[in-house]
Amino acid sequence: MTKSPGAILDGAQHRPQRGESQDGTSTKSPGAILDGAQHRPQRGESQDGTSTKSPPGNLSAANAPPHSGPRSKDGAAGSAAEWAEEEPGKEPAVIYLDYAATTPVDPAVAEAMVLSLREEGRLGNPSSMHLPGRRAAGRIEAARAQVAALIGAAPEEIIFTSGATESNNLAVLGVPRANAHRGRHVVSSRIEHKAVLDPCKRLEKEGFTVTLVHPDRTGRIDPLALAAALRADTVLVSVMLVNNEVGVIQDVEAIGALCRARGILFHTDAAQAAGKIPIDVRVLPVDLMSFTAHKLYGPMGIGALYVRSGARSHLQPIMFGGGQERGLRPGTLPTHQIVGFGAACELARQALASESARLISLRERLWTELAALGGAHLNGEGAPRVPGILNVSFEDVQGESLVAGLSELAISTGSACNSASAEPSYVLRALGRDIELAQSSLRFSIGRFTTSTELAAAAAAVRRELKRLRALSPASEATHPDLEGDESCVVGEAGGPGQEVWVQFKLRVRDGLVEKASFKAFGCPHTLAVLGWVADRLVGRSYAELVPGTPADWAQQLAVPVEKLGRLLKIEDALHECLRNWSEV
Ligand SMILES: Cc1ncc(COP(=O)(O)O)c(C=O)c1O
Repeated sequence: MTKSPGAILDGAQHRPQRGESQDGTSTKSPGAILDGAQHRPQRGESQDGTSTKSPPGNLSAANAPPHSGPRSKDGAAGSAAEWAEEEPGKEPAVIYLDYAATTPVDPAVAEAMVLSLREEGRLGNPSSMHLPGRRAAGRIEAARAQVAALIGAAPEEIIFTSGATESNNLAVLGVPRANAHRGRHVVSSRIEHKAVLDPCKRLEKEGFTVTLVHPDRTGRIDPLALAAALRADTVLVSVMLVNNEVGVIQDVEAIGALCRARGILFHTDAAQAAGKIPIDVRVLPVDLMSFTAHKLYGPMGIGALYVRSGARSHLQPIMFGGGQERGLRPGTLPTHQIVGFGAACELARQALASESARLISLRERLWTELAALGGAHLNGEGAPRVPGILNVSFEDVQGESLVAGLSELAISTGSACNSASAEPSYVLRALGRDIELAQSSLRFSIGRFTTSTELAAAAAAVRRELKRLRALSPASEATHPDLEGDESCVVGEAGGPGQEVWVQFKLRVRDGLVEKASFKAFGCPHTLAVLGWVADRLVGRSYAELVPGTPADWAQQLAVPVEKLGRLLKIEDALHECLRNWSEV
């Protein structure tokens, strides 16, 4: 279907149907994102990616359906599993619960972008003065108005960037550099995204001083604590609107008011907030605000920095070139990306109220199910939180092993796999969580296409893994299943509660040889894999040859990264402990 070019932009023509056909069945799938195929033709969609059965509509139509994809009973789009069934033999279905990392592109957005790309022959460089150039500039200005409307800004207050990372860099570096003659002190918080913290480190290298305020245990920055950090030479405060790990919403109204009273510029990173909670910069005392399209069902690689009119003179560019975007962000503007961003903002603005109500209800149901598993701690409890994020720490399980066992879920965790020591989330640590709980956290982030069926399946998967890992832990009451009640066994243990690794072997020895071997353990997936491999090799061994090689051999056999070798030493220690006990038998 070919549509007139300005369809999305002037809001008067074809409203992309977000994959929904006339009979109410949908043609697009969040699965397109899930399996990495950005835009494969779906039911009701022609090979060229346009909708084949869609009635015309209008983006700003009040009755616009809030979801795309196949509908389930609860009104949301269909699950990834549903879509995977359409293509037998393809990758296994994954339930996508990582909306805080990136959202699937809404099919209406994709369609707006495709229409724009198809027009490329008619659209020139938006900086050019000829007709094709002016056409492109027109598309961009219409999209700028849509982006601005999402946060109550004036279109000329929107500076397009490549995303929130660049917007944060522009604000966090650009304001202090432009105001260095007034002061060289910046205030931010310990739980900011790295896209704020790393530019802060850069500022320190340039001779600025940065104070990072601690959150309270709920994850909120107390405005009084922030006020105490302000100095006469403070030139910028940057505090995020919504935290990306726990979803806690900061009191930017109070923080901004403090800054305004002292003439300090205030920046907020709203990457996780825009399109998720109402934002109105006409009433919020915010001077600069970063956001990004790919967290609100738009494309990756395009974002914006809101710069309050009047704040422009306090901001220095970080790149130099063609003078675009009021001299703040040079480079040819990507028309189709910006058109997609505009369409996404328009949809988000329309769907915000109904979408948040639905997501809060889904999130609370998920939390009820997870809390019932026992030993579950809600991170950010007691603070206002964004509807789509639920961050939970689970007692008595190793975070990496928990996540590794949940391969059917696309989910984020507070632990970093494959590092020498699983780095616990600095955000959860700042909230006062101990290392174990910070490492054993899961961030469920849900959105427009999440269904209650998917969440029920996710909760069941977590229940299964928790049960398995907790039973395996030496801390659990459960005995070694195969050697239950066998008191004649040799036991060897290393590591212990609160440590990265805790290993316990139990061996039944008959006639000088190991007849049966079992283990219990708390540890990362590599440790567990090596344990299983070693335990299999113990059967039939005598005292003299009990230990089957060295930790270095095991690491090589099972491709364990060298930085994890230290963990395997505990396995060796436990076997030596078995030998000591064996000699005493
Ligand atoms: C709070 C926050 N700020 C900044 C970013 C970076 O955004 P982008 O991917 O658009 O650069 C993210 C994305 O992960 C985020 O969650």
